Amino acid sequence: MTHPAPPSGARSKRDLVSIADLTRDQLEELFTLALRLKTDRRKGWPHPLLAGKTLAMIFEKPSLRTRVTFEAGMYQLGGHAIYLAPPDIGLGTRETVPDVAQNLSRWVDLIMARTFAHSTVVDLAKHATVPVINGLSELLHPCQILADCLTLIERRGRLDGLKVAFIGDGNNVVNSWVNAAAKLSFSFALACPSGYEPDAGVLAAARQAGAQVAITTSIAEAVRDADAVYTDVWTSMGQEKESAMRREAFRDYQLNAGVMALAKPDALVMHCLPAHRGEEISAEVLDGPQSVVLDQAENRLHIQKAIMVWLVG
Ligand code: CP
Ligand code: NVA
Repeated sequence: MTHPAPPSGARSKRDLVSIADLTRDQLEELFTLALRLKTDRRKGWPHPLLAGKTLAMIFEKPSLRTRVTFEAGMYQLGGHAIYLAPPDIGLGTRETVPDVAQNLSRWVDLIMARTFAHSTVVDLAKHATVPVINGLSELLHPCQILADCLTLIERRGRLDGLKVAFIGDGNNVVNSWVNAAAKLSFSFALACPSGYEPDAGVLAAARQAGAQVAITTSIAEAVRDADAVYTDVWTSMGQEKESAMRREAFRDYQLNAGVMALAKPDALVMHCLPAHRGEEISAEVLDGPQSVVLDQAENRLHIQKAIMVWLVG
């Protein structure tokens, strides 16, 4: 199956597969729009910017935040969202990824996908004629980091000059932080055990673009002067077979009060959630006064509404 090229003069299709695909100006446009939509919602002002539009949500993995924020967000924008669970479509088994992308493009205005392989979301974007949003892949989690940046902007008034430290696995969340550091003027420092560094390609491209990214095995070095200290699970979805080995590898990489004492006194505690208290983060810190994890979760709603409007509206 093929699809015709867009008529000449038409805006080429936008996707949000990676933060690396966006310019700094586009990122700032998204933050501004998200803050406007957040204010509108707080004031109870309707904002049906996507009335009559439909979002298809493909999930190969479980989710609380991503599913609810996209579905509720689309409803608040006057549109409709359809949840497609793994057994519903059998992405890549019952039907090929390109066929799913091309069929959905005939019915809906936007596709969001949470996939195992990053190549699946790339393939969806390549073959869909409607915008595709990455709702987490093995490589990246762009919507999460955009919500986190929005949280820092709200809490600190800016991103420029901030230092974000991350304790733990160089996973999809970290890779998207590295991408963001290449576009926005904050520095990023990861403390991880050796062998758990971020993706080499993501790191090389970001550094070439001027990102200030430090990778170390030393927690003290990473969190020194940090404005925010972030962590995520030691075992990401899809890595369950490695969980015993990972518990061992990361046992000294817990975000706790001792670690926070090494950062700036008012440093923010961040986590994308879900969290495992007593593993990557202590309960005291996760539920403590410096934690902004619920702001991060709330901001998934606002930034994703902005992303959907920006892609479709
Ligand atoms: N942070 C995040 O993406 O949460 P879910 O896995 O619940 O969607
Ligand atoms: N790194 C985690 C993030 C969950 C939101 C995972 O991929 O499972």
